[in-house]
Amino acid sequence: MNNFIFQNPTRLIFGQGMIAQLSKEIPADKKVMITFGGGSVKKNGVYEQVIEALNGYDITEFWGIEPNPSIETLRKAIALGKEKNIDYLLAVGGGSVLDGTKLISAGLLYDGDAWDLVQKGSSDKTIPMGTVLTIPATGSEMNNGAVISRHETQEKYPFYSNFPVFSILDPTVTFTLPPYQIACGMADTFVHVMEQYMTKPNQSRMMDRWAEGILMMLTTIAPLVKENQQDYDLMSQFMLGATMGLNGFIAMGVPQDWATHMIGHELTALKGLTHGATLAIVYPGMLRTLIDKKLDKLLQYGERIWGITTGLPVTRATIAIDKTEEFFRNLGLATRLSEVNIGDDTIDEIERRFNARNAAYGEDGDVTGAVAKQILLNCK
Ligand code: NZQ
Ligand code: ZN
Repeated sequence: MNNFIFQNPTRLIFGQGMIAQLSKEIPADKKVMITFGGGSVKKNGVYEQVIEALNGYDITEFWGIEPNPSIETLRKAIALGKEKNIDYLLAVGGGSVLDGTKLISAGLLYDGDAWDLVQKGSSDKTIPMGTVLTIPATGSEMNNGAVISRHETQEKYPFYSNFPVFSILDPTVTFTLPPYQIACGMADTFVHVMEQYMTKPNQSRMMDRWAEGILMMLTTIAPLVKENQQDYDLMSQFMLGATMGLNGFIAMGVPQDWATHMIGHELTALKGLTHGATLAIVYPGMLRTLIDKKLDKLLQYGERIWGITTGLPVTRATIAIDKTEEFFRNLGLATRLSEVNIGDDTIDEIERRFNARNAAYGEDGDVTGAVAKQILLNCK
């Protein structure tokens, strides 16, 4: 097991009706800016619950943080926050609103253009933020990551800052999610776990079992959620599982991959594909490309998640990859680039970008531009 430091300071507040707890979490003397997406929270009662819970607070609202939050929008939020002397942020929405708010929280204490912070990759000077999460997927509610886009140049990069002080997860708010967003959220959670698990065998029995626990939960509930997404128990498990998939708990002391995410971010930046949808395409192609080096872990995964116990090792691993692709297809997602009309020009551009930044992703740092191209060719 590798050395590691673990600390996750986010207070998780979980369950139906818990949005009413907001005033216990945010000091009454704070000047609060509440950040929102495009308006889904006005249709499902979340907005009213938040405003009611913060009755009497000094509140500024900022609307319009879009999916794949852009620096262009976030600059406006930072300018408004500075003008109003905001000293507390509350993000109400999905991963995009939460991620965007993480950059706002750093941008409010920075004099220059916030894109500098994204390019630097991190900032530890931030003002406190809390969240009310409305879509299980990213884990942003309990991690310090964010991913910020720049429309002008079609770029999208990770940025690390603060953990939310608290996050409120009420599973009933997910009842209004479009089925496509649920599918993308499940694919995202599944691939988060895989990026921390599908590396090398015999690193940590406990991390393996925790990761496999989340994978098993997802493969079990996915078809049931399709039947009834208003089942409180099912959506509770999905919501907690998505948080546990990317809050550091399954990453202690083990190698991590993340090559699929980095390729996926390029597909979003260049073609506008939803985050989870990029992963459902790239992940099976990545496994097909790197089957030899990941063979031993694929055998463990195939046996424990899909019950594959007979056949030659390569055959078993291939079946495990096919099962993974089938899982994404059963969610209702495309798993091939051709289905979303992405062709060789995009593949070549991603290779060029990876080469230009000397990219070396994956648990061994060997997913270069050339390997990324091979992966994408195996996603056709
Ligand atoms: O904007 P509104 O109107 O709120 O609508 C949103 C949006 O259109 C809608 N929605 C959210 N909750 C809803 C709802 N509609 C009805 N009912 C509800 N309860 O769903 C749409 C998608 O929202 P978004 O926030 O974009 O989804 P998600 O949570 O999947 O976030 C995706 C972003 O997070 C980044 C992705 O790259 C992408 O930019 N990620 C962040 C990570 C992190 N911080 O650790 C890790 C991930 O790997 C990921 O990269
Ligand atoms: Zn993701």
